Parts: sequence; structure tokens; C-alpha cells
Amino acid sequence: KCSAAPNDRFDCAPEKVLNKEECEARGCCYISEDDGLATGQPACFFPPDYPNYKMIDFTETKFGYSANLIRTKHTFMPNDLMKLHMDVFFETPHRLRIIMKDTTQKRYEVPIETPKVNEKADPVQYDVQFTQESFSFSVSRKCNGNVLVNTNVAPFIFADQFIQMSTSLSSQYIYGLGEHLTSINLDLNWTKLTFWNRDLIPREDANLYGSHPFYLGFEKDGSAHGVFLLNSNAMDVILQPAPALTWRTIGGIVDMYFFMGPDPKTVIKQYQELIGFPFMPPYWALGFHLCRWGYNSSAMTREAVEKTMAAGIPLEVQWNDIDYMDAYRDFTYDPDRFGDLPEMVKEFHNKGMKYVAIMEPAIGLSSSPGSYPPYEDGLKRGVYVTNETGQPLMGKVWPGTTVFVDFTNPEAHKWWHDMFKAFHDKVPFDGAWIDMNEPANNVHGSLDGCPDNSLENPPYVPDVVGKELRDTTICASSYQNISSHYNLHNMYGLFEAIATHDALVKIRQKRPFVISRSNFPTLGRYAGHWTGDVDSTWKQLYYTIPAIVLCNMYGIPLVGADLCGFVGDASEELCVRWSQVGAFYPFMRNHNTKDAKSQEPYVFSKKSVDAIRKATLARYMLLPYMYTLFYKSHIFGETVVRAPFMEFPQDQNTWTVDRQFLWGEALLITPVVEQGKTAVTGYFPAGMWYSLVGGAGFESKGEWKTLPAALDTINLHIRGGYIIPAQEPAMTTTEMRKNGMKLLVALTKNGIAHGELYWDDGDSLDTYEKGDYTLITFSAQDNTLVSKVEKLEKEAENLKLNVVGLFGIADIPKEILINGAPALDFQYLQNEQHLKIQQLDLALGSEFEIKWS
Ligand code: NOJ
Repeated sequence: KCSAAPNDRFDCAPEKVLNKEECEARGCCYISEDDGLATGQPACFFPPDYPNYKMIDFTETKFGYSANLIRTKHTFMPNDLMKLHMDVFFETPHRLRIIMKDTTQKRYEVPIETPKVNEKADPVQYDVQFTQESFSFSVSRKCNGNVLVNTNVAPFIFADQFIQMSTSLSSQYIYGLGEHLTSINLDLNWTKLTFWNRDLIPREDANLYGSHPFYLGFEKDGSAHGVFLLNSNAMDVILQPAPALTWRTIGGIVDMYFFMGPDPKTVIKQYQELIGFPFMPPYWALGFHLCRWGYNSSAMTREAVEKTMAAGIPLEVQWNDIDYMDAYRDFTYDPDRFGDLPEMVKEFHNKGMKYVAIMEPAIGLSSSPGSYPPYEDGLKRGVYVTNETGQPLMGKVWPGTTVFVDFTNPEAHKWWHDMFKAFHDKVPFDGAWIDMNEPANNVHGSLDGCPDNSLENPPYVPDVVGKELRDTTICASSYQNISSHYNLHNMYGLFEAIATHDALVKIRQKRPFVISRSNFPTLGRYAGHWTGDVDSTWKQLYYTIPAIVLCNMYGIPLVGADLCGFVGDASEELCVRWSQVGAFYPFMRNHNTKDAKSQEPYVFSKKSVDAIRKATLARYMLLPYMYTLFYKSHIFGETVVRAPFMEFPQDQNTWTVDRQFLWGEALLITPVVEQGKTAVTGYFPAGMWYSLVGGAGFESKGEWKTLPAALDTINLHIRGGYIIPAQEPAMTTTEMRKNGMKLLVALTKNGIAHGELYWDDGDSLDTYEKGDYTLITFSAQDNTLVSKVEKLEKEAENLKLNVVGLFGIADIPKEILINGAPALDFQYLQNEQHLKIQQLDLALGSEFEIKWS
């Protein structure tokens, strides 16, 4: 009965260490180190006959199936639910949902609306099977029988504060379950991933700012599927080499979704169809942002702007950290150091720039009546998280003693808007940076500690940093409008992001820009994210690549890490390399902590400034392409940046590549993320690849290639078969949007390519939804490039196509015709097989034809 192989053993003593007698008293199997127990493996594990639920009353329903699950024997956890109800919904042909919950009492359920389905989909791509006596279920792929998960590997436990379900995995390759500092594919060697949003300098094996109980998994044949546990409670997910996974959450219900793909991009789309597609950012969000903690006055802030401009680095958005506030209070500015903040913001606007300010969810108190009206107004309106006595819970953050806004309260949502509005009337900021919203607290729980109850001391505490739920945050048992903080903690930042998004829309009547640190599924509908307080080290630079790629998978495409790192001094070389990688994050911001050495681009040697400028200008040139990708993410749930495995799932070599990434389908970025290197080795999946930084294009059969990468170079390759819309850069996107456009056309060996451009005014709300946009598709074949105007609106009327760069032209053409007339200006580079046609002056709103022969 205790013969399970080590990798197939599931922990029967998750909440404490047991000795042999105690373990066996639970009815479980025990193995000691002397008997060969290895690191990570459980000493106490379930036998196959451990008491489990039994399935009864199984029936077919309008949606799928339903059944009851009953247990007659208790587990080792208090308050087992002895009877559960299960519903199985065949929601769509590719999406299956399984819910298990109490039959008698309403339990907390994640307050996120998911699509309502009225009847069972038929036919479907999945098959779900059950075992009755000892309950389990399995989900498989109908067309080939691949088993995606099978829960028969361990008993199912559902107690009031402990739900555990183990499943087999279909391969060693799974991705997701963030936010953690990991490689792209997760390590299944007894890894524990903890979800409890937290303020922490990112490190491996720690719960960080966000929680995404979603993974994408490969099957052995390269098919892919997704699994999502819609649960916001504190959670551990354990991965083991079987391969298997254990979900272990301390509240809520089981609400599980399966997405059938069958390829990674489709899985991601299907997941985002459920959680909602990302918001469309304003065009300016894609420019370069500059920030630091420690711009202590408006003079220092202006100086940073001036020096950046003088260095010839495009600067789109200047930020201020908490330094601008008066005594670190929201909706105020320091009268001495930032007395002319409103004027400064207007000056930035006159330069064509934008301004973003930080906002905190922890509100300082009034030192004397009337001294800080926002706090008093909030108190009157009852917008704060409360403690067991019904009073606002008090903690400690920047302003000293603080209370915490309860953004789940509709009144708080309104109050937040009102405060924003009053402040915006004075300081016309353009976007909001919402920080410390896990929420972070400098005392554990509250100034008065936390009560001693089951929410504060659950029978099982996930492996959170600090070992207690209250560590660096507010009491788990504190009260929020819709439930306990215990249930809502991981969604605190999400609710703040929703309130902030809505406030900005209402106030500015333009597209909102919100960047949030705390994150949870659906955040991307309202805000972007940055990866927090990363160290200025080479290792962290590497980790930002899987981090931004995974965030895109979670439907939060507007994401970046602090360029050059946040904590610690960045060396010049690191900052150059980080700026190169950062130039390809969807959200590009240089940000630094207070006491680290300056790392704005302009502080470095000319050589480094030149390198940073070069990378930034390369980004700007490609912005029309990135903007088109954002449109595709907003409308279709595609990712903006992606991992090679998402684009080339049939090539197993890509399954672990996480030092390179792509923009969409067409642009492969191969940065240097190691110190002292002037060459970089990258993987090039089969096909034609053309370098954008010089050098011959090549055909790869699916190979690793080493490329030169001097300090001023980040390798960029266009994939054969694609056309990238680009534009002549300028110092701001507003200026740049008036410049001539370019098309970068990368032909396959058969001379084919296609691409598209999405264009609108870049700032109005709902342009796509209202039809106020332009969409132009481009295609090349038979030595001819043509455009097709799918839709045209006024913004694009003045857009001119000036340059076409064709890659993959084997010989100098004898004739080039532009709408039938000979080209006036072109260049051919034999070595690069590149034909550049210039001075085209073609109105993009009219269809054109370019022929070469
Ligand atoms: C923590 C944030 O992560 C960091 O970016 C910011 O500079 C500090 N808080 C100060 O506001």
C-alpha cells in the first residue's frame, strides 16, 4: 500500500512535520531519510486507500453533468465539507468548467464576472471521465486521447480552510503560475509556488506582487492546453517530477477551467476570452518613460527632462515618485519643493510630453481637524478597510499612520474619483502609477496587531515569506465591503486599478494609463504592470524576459521592468544592456531607488549614451508595429511580446528558450544579458531571418547561432514572411506620428510576406469600438507589394509611405515600378539581399502597388 515511487508521492502532512507514528496515525505512509527520502519528497504520503469523496447522483444536465460528492470519513484537516456539489459545464467547444462547492452554505467566490453560457456546447474537443467510489476526474483531448489532467493521483480534500487537489500533468513543460522569479518553463523538481501578493525585492522561491493561478502545458505531441483555478485565496501550488501538480488553497471554492488550444497562442486567446481582453493603451504609453525615487523637487525633475533631451534621447513621459507629495499624502504636493508642480506639468505638455504621478492606497491621517480633507472625507464616507471593532484599520506606510482604502466598496470607488478629480483640476497629470497595493504595510497586520481567529491563523498557512499572512500587509481578518481581506487580499490591487482606470476615464475622457504593482487575473483590462523592485544585477535582467512574456500570457501586455534595475547601483555596461532589452519591453521606463547611483541615460559616457539612444530609436521606429500588436491584443487576445515556444510550438527546442523573445509573430529580439559579452547565441527556428542591425539574412533549419553583439548592438531579426510597419522616429510620439512611414518587408524563400497597420488618433476612447480607425493590410508575392485599405478614417489621411525596405531580394532589380512609374531613389545591398526604395511619397490611404523585376 505504500509502494508509490518517490515522484508519485503526494504530501499527507502539508501543515506540519510529522514523525512516523503521527503520520501513520493519520492513515498515511512514512519514509525516513535513512530509507532513501530525498530533498523535496514528502516523508509522509497518501496511500491509495486514503479516504476520499464518493460520487453520487451523477446526472446529465443542460450544461454538462452534475453530481454530489460525499465523504464519510474525516481528513486530518478541521471542518471537512462532508457533502459537495459538482457542476460540469461544457461552456464552449474548447472550454470546460468544473465547479465544486458546498451544498448547504454559500462560500466566498471570486468576484469576477465570467461569460455566461446558456447551454452545453456540442461537439466539444474534450472528454471528461469520472471515477465514482474514490472520486476523481480526468480531462482528455478527444481527437487523440491525450490526458491533460487526472486527479486520481491523490485524494481530494475540501475543508473549510483547506482545499487540495492533485493532478497528473501531460508533460514536463508547463508555463505560468506567476508572479514568481522563474525561468520560462517551470521547474518540476518539487517546486512550491506561493500566491499571496506581497511587497518584496523579487527573489526565487518567494511570493511576489501578483497571483495568477493559470498555467499553459504542453502535451508530448506538442499540443497545448491551459488550466485556470479561479480562486483568490492564499495558495500553494506544488510541482513534482511525476509530472504532477497540487493545488492547495485555503478558501473559496473549486472553480476550474480547461482550455483546449490546441496550440499555445490559441490557449492564451481562450484564456483571455474568459478573463477579458486587455485595454488599448494610448499611443504615448509606448514611448520612453523616465522616473526615479529621489527627484526631490520640481527643479530636479525638470533637470532630468532637460538632460535627457539634450542627450538626444526621446522622452515621452516624465514621472514623479512619492517625493512630490506633501508629507507623503495622496492628492497633495509639497509647497516648497514642488510648489510649481502644476506649471511644470503644463511645461511638459507644451513640449509634447506627458506626466505621471504615483498614488498610494494607504491614506495618511489628519494631524489636526481640517488639515487633510481627503482623509476626513473618506472617513465620513466610510471608505476604509475596518478592523474587528468596526474602526478603520491602522497601519504604517509613507505618511506614518495610515488607513487603507477599501476599493471593493462602491463609495470608495466614487471617493477615489472625487479625490482624483480635485487633484487633477490643480495638477493635470496624464496617468497614475499605483504602488504598494498588495497592500504593503510597514507593521504586520495593524498598529494594534490582529485578532486571534481562524482567518489570522488558518490550519494551513501557505509558504508565504514571513510565515504569517499578515506579514508586511494588513490583517487577513480585516473587513472589506464584499468579504474578508483573507479572501480578497490578492485582488486588492486589482480593485484599486479598476477604480483608478474609471476615475481617469471620467476625468480625462481619454484613454487611461495606469500601472499597477499588485496584479491578479483581469488586471490587463484596466492597467499595466511593472515587475517591482528588481535588483540591478545581470541575473535580474535575464529574469525580466520570462517575466514580461508571462505577463503577456496573463493578459497584461503593457508590462516592463525598471530599466537598469531598481535596487543597487547599475554599472554602465549593465545599464546599456538593460536599456537595450528595455527598449523592447512593451512598457519602457527607467526607474531607480533613492540611494542608488544615478542611471538616467545621460549620466553615462558618450559611447553608452549613443548605444542607449540607438536602441531607443530602434524601438520608436517600430512603434507602429507595436501599436498594431496592442490593437490585436485588445481585439483578439493576442500577446504583444511572446516567447519563442508560443510562436513555434512544433519545434521543441523553443520550449525552454527564455533569453530571446518576439514582438508579435515577426520580430525576434536576441539581447545580451550577460556581463562582458560582445557576442550572443540565440535560437533561430526554421525559416528566413533578416537582421535589422546589418549583416546577411540567413535561412535557419532550426539552429543556434552566435552573432556579433558589440555594446551598441541588440540583435533584431525580422522573420521571413512578415511585413512590419515602421516610422521615422522623433523626440516624442506626437511629433513622430507626423513623419513618413516605412515598411520592412521580409520575404520567405518563395518571395511571400504579409502584414498590417492599425492606426487611429492614439488617445480617444474606444476608437476601434466606434469604428474610428484605419486598417491597412500589405502583401507581397510574385515580385509585387500591394496594400489594401480595409478601413480608412481621417487620422490616417495624411500618413505617407516614404520608404520600403525589402529583404530577400537575390539580385539587383532591373526595373522598379511604383504604381506603374519608375522608382526615383533606391539602393541595393547585395550582401544583405536588401533593396531599399526611398522618397516614395505614397498616401497610405490609397492602395499602391510596387513591382520589381
Ligand atoms: C516601491 C516601488 O516598487 C518603487 O518603484 C518606488 O520607487 C517606491 N515604492 C517608492 O515609492
